Amino acid sequence: MLNGEKSLQKPLRWGMIGGGRTGQVGYKHRTGALRDHTAYRLVCGAFDIDYERGMDFGLNLGVARERLYPDYKTLIAEEAKREDGVEVVTIATPNFTHYEITKACLEAGLHVICEKPLFFTIAECEEIAALADRKGLIVGVTYGFTGHPLVHQMAAMVKKGMLGEIRIVDLQYTHGFNAGDDSNASEAQRWRTNAQTSGPTFVLGDIGTHIHYLSEIVLPHLRITKLLCDRQSFIKTRAPLEDNAYVLSHYDNGAVGRLWVSSVNAGSMASQRYRFVGSKASVEWTDTQPNELIYEIQGQPPQILHHGMPYLEEESLRYERMGALHTEGLGDSWANIYLWIAQAIDAKNRDDEAFLKTHHYPGIEAGTEGVRWLEHCVRSADNGGVWVPYS
Ligand SMILES: NC(=O)c1ccc[n+]([C@@H]2O[C@H](COP(=O)([O-])OP(=O)(O)OC[C@H]3O[C@@H](n4cnc5c(N)ncnc54)[C@H](O)[C@@H]3O)[C@@H](O)[C@H]2O)c1
Repeated sequence: MLNGEKSLQKPLRWGMIGGGRTGQVGYKHRTGALRDHTAYRLVCGAFDIDYERGMDFGLNLGVARERLYPDYKTLIAEEAKREDGVEVVTIATPNFTHYEITKACLEAGLHVICEKPLFFTIAECEEIAALADRKGLIVGVTYGFTGHPLVHQMAAMVKKGMLGEIRIVDLQYTHGFNAGDDSNASEAQRWRTNAQTSGPTFVLGDIGTHIHYLSEIVLPHLRITKLLCDRQSFIKTRAPLEDNAYVLSHYDNGAVGRLWVSSVNAGSMASQRYRFVGSKASVEWTDTQPNELIYEIQGQPPQILHHGMPYLEEESLRYERMGALHTEGLGDSWANIYLWIAQAIDAKNRDDEAFLKTHHYPGIEAGTEGVRWLEHCVRSADNGGVWVPYS
């Protein structure tokens, strides 16, 4: 169980680029990073594309005025002059800026925590992975849902063989928030539906990469061998970017997968559903009931496993923060993700490669895999929804 005690010698000096007052995701980063006070300390920021708004916001967060910067370049340059300069920077800006800002931060010797989808192309991912490696720096990616202890319970059950051989992977992340047209679209919606600023996809990158990564956490031993993607732009102004997509997958053990992502599932609130079906039993978890895991053994009554209970696997209990009876939430998941990345940065700083070999966190490989999956989906969909080999 995690209770906020320190696991690093001292907290990392942390800054944010983006994630300002109007940003959708910034607060999740701060709740994730600062939850324990023992892994990160917020020391600086270039929070906003609008300097004055970012300055006002940063002051309200308690950041010193002289460490609130007009843009990321100034942040990097000014912080480098300080003995107590920033050590790790989070990038919570629109997709098209991720590559440029990540590269500049790494070149300046800063660890990076970047939003998904990481970059636009695999070539960019590989270049950044090599740069981080050369510099001895960590790149973390905030697939924020995968810190939930019950996700790790599913992984532990699969690993122990409790489901038997995996046959079916059924994933869904759909909502109806973009069922209407974009005539009154918010700032965040406008950049998401423009290929220049969003990249080659809309919902596949925006929400599909989350569930693809979560399935990898549960099934680390399986590899996709080929996939078929069919994507649609129901609101025509979004074309070629999709607001709905289906992806079929084949895995190297013979399992098959079905994934549905949509932002035009009218009337539906954000909802994620994961079902992993094996030869003996299935597990199912949804983000709308995150405290419960449905475990169904063929021929037996279904069981509901509750988070935090001693009958769960150690791999789940070690990431528990609230304890049974007290609901586990998304904030806890983000706090776990941030802690794992802090532990990776700390180990990198100490050259502790032995720790890094066994320590798991969403890093550059996880971000790269998201981009690789998107490239295959786009290639499949844009060739008329055909199977493409996965490599
Ligand atoms: N992990 C998740 O669960 C999750 C959830 C939502 C968004 N995201 C990702 O987070 C990123 C941001 O998404 P959002 O919805 O918060 O976007 P947003 O448009 O709501 O907010 C972007 C923020 O970045 C600021 N900004 C823009 N350009 C900047 C620049 N060059 N320098 C400094 N600040 C800049 C804006 O002023 C704003 O504060 C995207 O990559 C998105 O895919 C991830």
